[in-house]
Amino acid sequence: MHRTHTCGELRLADIGKTVTLSGWVQKSRDLGGMTFIDVRDRYGITQLTFNSDDDESLRAAARELGREYVIKATGTVIERSSKNSKIPTGEIEIKVSQLEVLNESKLPPFTIEDETDGGDDIRMKYRYLDIRRNPVKNSLLFRHKVTQEVRNYLSNLDFCEVETPYLIKSTPEGARDFIVPSRMNPGQFYALPQSPQTFKQLLMVGGMDKYFQIVKCFRDEDLRADRQPEFTQIDCEMSFVEQEDILNIFEGMTRHLLKNIHGIEIDQFPRMTFDEAMRTYGNDKPDIRFGMKFGELNAVAQHKEFAIFNNAELVVGIAVPGAAGYTRKQIDELIEWVKRPQVGASGMVYAKYEADGSLKSSVDKFYDQADLLKWAEVTGAQPGDLILVLSGPAHKTRAQLSALRMELGNRMGLRKPDEFAPLWVIDFPLLEWDEETGRFHAMHHPFTSPKIEDMPLLDTDPGKVRANAYDLVLNGNEIGGGSIRIHDKDMQALMFKHLGFSTEQAQDQFGFLMNAFQYGAPPHGGLAFGLDRLTAILGGQETIRDFIAFPKNNSGRDVMIDAPAIIAKEQLDELSISLSPVSK
Ligand code: AMO
Repeated sequence: MHRTHTCGELRLADIGKTVTLSGWVQKSRDLGGMTFIDVRDRYGITQLTFNSDDDESLRAAARELGREYVIKATGTVIERSSKNSKIPTGEIEIKVSQLEVLNESKLPPFTIEDETDGGDDIRMKYRYLDIRRNPVKNSLLFRHKVTQEVRNYLSNLDFCEVETPYLIKSTPEGARDFIVPSRMNPGQFYALPQSPQTFKQLLMVGGMDKYFQIVKCFRDEDLRADRQPEFTQIDCEMSFVEQEDILNIFEGMTRHLLKNIHGIEIDQFPRMTFDEAMRTYGNDKPDIRFGMKFGELNAVAQHKEFAIFNNAELVVGIAVPGAAGYTRKQIDELIEWVKRPQVGASGMVYAKYEADGSLKSSVDKFYDQADLLKWAEVTGAQPGDLILVLSGPAHKTRAQLSALRMELGNRMGLRKPDEFAPLWVIDFPLLEWDEETGRFHAMHHPFTSPKIEDMPLLDTDPGKVRANAYDLVLNGNEIGGGSIRIHDKDMQALMFKHLGFSTEQAQDQFGFLMNAFQYGAPPHGGLAFGLDRLTAILGGQETIRDFIAFPKNNSGRDVMIDAPAIIAKEQLDELSISLSPVSK
């Protein structure tokens, strides 16, 4: 038998028991008369002791153990004389009578400690060693808990988990597809799904009624902290529902998670329209854990001789709480920050609302106290606050001020990881203008239904048509999104037309869906959560990488298995693929 207990299990109540533990050598200390070995497994660490009255060969074996050796030790549980209150097993130790090395280990390239000396790259290359460390291991265990709670919640509501295929057909919307060549069909390719969207809709036509799937999705897009090329969705769809039903069920799921994981009870989630989110936070996924709401200043800043404001489509500001005391240097640094290419502002105006009620701005030449008081009113500034103002084209300026607001939120410690502020953003636009292709794209996806009352605008002002689409935002991150779908063939055909598909293209790419809609498609809708993001945020972080067992790096590579990789000519020939030389 390899073990009677785990390394995290034994307590004072077990004193006197003969036990066997197996695990990895975390640390060994030889104090002359005594040798201590810390043995570790997933569950914890237990101290093994060997002393001078032990058999010399046993002590010698203990002294020879290297870090990360895999061992099995049998002995008696005894009370420790010097207790360690930092670990749950810290009151006991095992006086070892038998020791066996199950496997040796090379010296690991970084320390297997909570605070390791290994950099990102080396830890990714030896991910299996990184997983032995508590922070990564605990993130994976945490993800399991989230997943299990999700399955419980949905299964209790009669959702049925159905697997949909990974080898599907490439579709032109959204991100780029990962493609897979077909050996049996030379010159033809499958695509890996960006999401199971059309399949879950077909399951509704198939009468499955309530579907979910915890499923891998694949998107060939640029990576960021909250994006991976393969990631996991909690994908859901329901029949005979309206938007309100979906919001209620999945608000319930999020509430269930917050309660069961953090013991936090949140009443009704606030809702905000897309327009309001853009106007008040410059962002469709606002972090509402802190204020600094936008104040639009056109009416109170465009009546003087200040040409920059007068020529701008939008003048908009925020009040930074308690920041009136910022030095010139601190403010200049913020101005430089918004002028970085990643943000792109051309400059920033500020006004200090001093504690004595007076206002002092960087544009005092143009604006008097009465003007500045109005700025304070619009931005909600109080004495002691600093008003920061940007101006320019509305969309860009909002994005810039939003970036500044988030940066300040981070710097000022207002984005507390253990505080959770969910929010529904609703009434998204149906379509989004794409400068590159010079046409409208579906903002969510082409299967999203427009609001009936906005339909007439499809021909006159398509950008104004709102969709029955919604996102769930948690702490400034989009953790889920979905919509009520089109379930009528003619409406779907009309939508493809507006998205620039010819009848033939629509038939070729989505004929299967429109055909299915001819056989009694029920009204349906759904959403998908990003499981990696949801888990990371519930775990108090925004980087999803540590919540994924084997993630890709920022260049989309798995540096542990060294993928992607070149494949042999024979394999390419079999797939009827010939490569033109690639310059590196
Ligand atoms: P959407 O494209 O909004 O919707 O995706 C749903 C959620 O998936 C997460 N997500 C990602 N997470 C990590 N890495 C990525 N590259 C990545 N891309 C998306 C986000 C997002 O909110 N089929 C629709 C859903 C529906 O309409 O039901 C869909 O895929 O958290």
